Amino acid sequence: MSKKRIFSGIQPSGALTIGNYLGALKNWVQLVDEYECIFSVVDLHAITVRQDPEELKQRCMALIAQYIACGIDPDKCTIFIQSHVPAHAELAWILNCYTYMGELERMTQFKDKSSRHADNINAGLFTYPVLMAADILLYQTDLVPVGHDQKQHLEICRDIAERFNRIYGPVFKMPEGYIGKMGARVMDLQNPEKKMSKSEPQGSIALLEDPASAVKKIKRAQTDSLGYVKYEEGRLAMNNLISIYGAVTGKTADEIETEFTGKGYGDFKKALAEAVQAELSPIQAKYKELMASPHYLQEVYRKGARYAASIAEETKRKVYEKVGYILG
Ligand code: TYM
Repeated sequence: MSKKRIFSGIQPSGALTIGNYLGALKNWVQLVDEYECIFSVVDLHAITVRQDPEELKQRCMALIAQYIACGIDPDKCTIFIQSHVPAHAELAWILNCYTYMGELERMTQFKDKSSRHADNINAGLFTYPVLMAADILLYQTDLVPVGHDQKQHLEICRDIAERFNRIYGPVFKMPEGYIGKMGARVMDLQNPEKKMSKSEPQGSIALLEDPASAVKKIKRAQTDSLGYVKYEEGRLAMNNLISIYGAVTGKTADEIETEFTGKGYGDFKKALAEAVQAELSPIQAKYKELMASPHYLQEVYRKGARYAASIAEETKRKVYEKVGYILG
């Protein structure tokens, strides 16, 4: 029996944070053996916010290297750059015609990003979830491992697929989301009401962050005045730190509570800093090695695009046929 398929992607829009790592990448690695995995560097998505062209190129390469450094083995799965497979943009156009303005207006990420980039509320930012739906649906995806913040985008993807299938018969497989138990919502270390984000370096730890700086940020992270380590309703700052520790070490909230019974925040933060450092060091070393081999990275993403395109084209042709285009 063939394996079920996974698709997921990350935008090359800034330095990856441990939020991206714990919410997405770390879970991907765990799913690679069980599923057929296709992972994309979604560069088409990235330009919904202005990017410096040279930096964007560099970040795409760096993201491929980070995927591999985190343990995504390119011999076991597919890694490619979204803009190398034209079917993404092509299917997105078609799906745009099956998506309602009202649905897109409800997207919280659109509301949030348009308030942060008030000078550039472009149509791409608005239709972004449709491109994401195209990404997923092109590969007849079974499972989409993402962080909690993408839940709404997955729901609209399913709505679009269902609508299309209702009109034309079964064209798209209905994808399911996969959101991890720990680490699906890593919050800003300085402001635990906000998610940790590439665009807020003060409250976030980058995957490639210098260890000394990561330790400093953990030491300075917000806590509360209760003084004990326990995951409890309403303790946003502590719950966040406990989740990070749990996601990194694989320990449950109960195990963490037991580990730190009778100990204070100083001990907990020290253990957290050590755990984060131990997790990031080998990734950073591997990343450096990979960035010194751009030809290898090129080989990976070219091979990835060839395979991805072969699946994507097949779905695209099915869609073209259904909507009534003469196949070229
Ligand atoms: P992006 O690039 O913002 O984030 C990449 C992945 O990281 C997760 N993530 C987090 N998880 C936990 N805590 C956080 N603070 C945190 N911040 C980010 C995200 O949930 C995501 O899984 N639209 C997507 C990219 C995308 C995509 C796709 C994903 C485009 N097409 C198709 C899956 C399938 C995005 O902007 O992710």
